[in-house]
Amino acid sequence: MNPGLRDLYEAARKARENSHSPYSGHKVGAALRTADGKVHAGCNVENSSYGATVCAERGAIQAAVASQGRFVLKELLVLTDVNPPWPPCGLCRQVISEFADPDLMIHAINLNGDTYSIAFKDLVPQAFTPAHLGK
Ligand code: THU
Repeated sequence: MNPGLRDLYEAARKARENSHSPYSGHKVGAALRTADGKVHAGCNVENSSYGATVCAERGAIQAAVASQGRFVLKELLVLTDVNPPWPPCGLCRQVISEFADPDLMIHAINLNGDTYSIAFKDLVPQAFTPAHLGK
C-alpha cells in the first residue's frame, strides 16, 4: 500500500469494525483528510427501512463537520471487503462535491490492499457544486 495512505487506512479499518450492516452484510469504512491535515472516519449505518441507510463516506463527512465545521476535503479512502473495491455511490459523490478540493483524490481499497485511486474531478467530471449557487 502507498505509505501515505496508512493513516487513512487505519482510521477506516477501525471505523469499519463498528459498521451496522445486518442487511447487506458488507462492512464499509471511510476516512478522509482535510486541507489542515485532520483525519475523520465513518462507517455505513444501515436501517430496516433500507432507504434510510447512510454510507461510510457520508458518515466520515458528518464527523468532520461535527468536529471542525466547514472543511476542505483533500483525500478520501473507502475500505470494503470486495474486489474490485467499491467507489463512492452517487449520493455520496454529491455530498463529497460540497467540500471537495479541486485536486481531491479518492482511494477505493479492500482488505487485501487492492487499491484503485482516481481524481474526484475524473470520477465526477460535471459535479454540481456550491459554486453553481455562488457559494
Ligand atoms: N456503501 C457504503 O458505505 N459506501 C459505498 O461506497 C458503497 C455502499 C454501503 C451502503 C450499504 O450499507 C452497503 O454498503 C451496500 O450497499
